[in-house]
Amino acid sequence: MTQTTTSDASPTAASATGPAAGTPLFGGPGGESPAEPRTDVVGRPLPDFAEPAPLASHGPARIVAMCNQKGGVGKTTTTINLGAALAEYGRRVLLVDFDPQGAASVGVGVNPHELDLSVYNLLMDRDVTFTDVLQTTAIEGLDVLPANIDLSAAEVQLVGEVARESVLARALRPALDDYDVILVDCQPSLGLLTVNALTAAHGVLIPLECEFFALRGVALLVETIEKVRDRLNPALEIDGILPTMYDARTLHSREVVARVHEAFGETLLHTIIGRTVKFPDASVAAEPITNYAPAHAGAAAYRQLARELVARGDTA
Ligand SMILES: Nc1ncnc2c1ncn2[C@@H]1O[C@H](COP(=O)(O)OP(=O)(O)O)[C@@H](O)[C@H]1O
Ligand SMILES: [Mg+2]
Repeated sequence: MTQTTTSDASPTAASATGPAAGTPLFGGPGGESPAEPRTDVVGRPLPDFAEPAPLASHGPARIVAMCNQKGGVGKTTTTINLGAALAEYGRRVLLVDFDPQGAASVGVGVNPHELDLSVYNLLMDRDVTFTDVLQTTAIEGLDVLPANIDLSAAEVQLVGEVARESVLARALRPALDDYDVILVDCQPSLGLLTVNALTAAHGVLIPLECEFFALRGVALLVETIEKVRDRLNPALEIDGILPTMYDARTLHSREVVARVHEAFGETLLHTIIGRTVKFPDASVAAEPITNYAPAHAGAAAYRQLARELVARGDTA
C-alpha cells in the first residue's frame, strides 16, 4: 500500500496528487499538477486537454443536441456553461432553447415573457429567419435563440407538417456558417421536438445525473437515437455521456459512473460535473458559472468539458 519513493509523503504533496480519495477531477485552475499522472473517476488516465487553438475563421457549425428525457439532470446547465466555456475559448456559439420552459433563455439573461419572436416562430412561420429571433448575450461570442411557453404548441402543430422531423434542421441551416457550435437544449421528453433536435444534430451529448435509477432511461434514449439515425439522420453520433451532480463524498456517485463505463465504454467522458449549489446560484443570477464564479471548480469543470470535446473532435 504505502509505497516509499524518494520525494513524496509531505501532506501537501499527498493532497496534490489527485483523485484517489474521491476528489472529482476538476483539473483545478492553477493546479498545475506535478509529475503524477492523473486518473479519472473510473481509473482511466486523464489526458491533459490542451487549450484549444484559436480559430482563424468561423463555421461550419457542429450542432450538438443536449438530450435526456429525464428532467433535472443538467441539460440546461450544461448547455449554458459549455456554451460559455467554448465562447471563452474564442468559439462562436449559438444556444437554441428548445424547451418551452425557457430556462436556457433565462439563464443567459433573456426574459422569455417579453419575446416578440421566439423559436416557435422560427419553426412555424416560413417568413421568420434565425436572425429575426436571434438575441445576443452579455457573453462575447454567445448568442441565443430564445423560447417560451409558445413552443409547447409546436409539438402538436408540427404533426401536420410536411417533413415534420426536419423543421429545426431546415431553420438552422442559414446559421451554420456563422457559428462553430450550435447547442440545442432539449426538453425532457422524447417527443417530436426532441426528434427534431436529433434530426438537426451532428452529435448528442447526454448529461446523466449520478443517481442509481438514472441509467434506466439511457437505454430508451439510445434506442431513440438509433431510430433517428436509421430513418432520418444517418450521420448522428453520440458525442458523450456526461456525469453530472457527482458527489465525491458518496460511494454511490462513483458506482454510477463505473456502471456507465461498463455499459458505454469510451462514450463516457472523462469530465464529470460535481454537485454544487453554485449552479443554482448562477441560474438565479442569470449568468453562466464561468462568469458568476469564474474561479469555482464548477467553472473549471465546464472549461475542461469544452477542451475535452474539442480534443475529441466533437466541436471545432
Ligand atoms: N452540478 C450541479 N450541482 C448542483 N445543482 C445542479 C447541477 N447541475 C444543475 N443543477 C441544478 O439542478 C436543477 C436542474 O438542472 P437543469 O440543468 O435545469 O436540468 P435539466 O435541464 O436537465 O432539467 C437546476 O436548479 C440546476 O441549477
Ligand atoms: Mg432544461
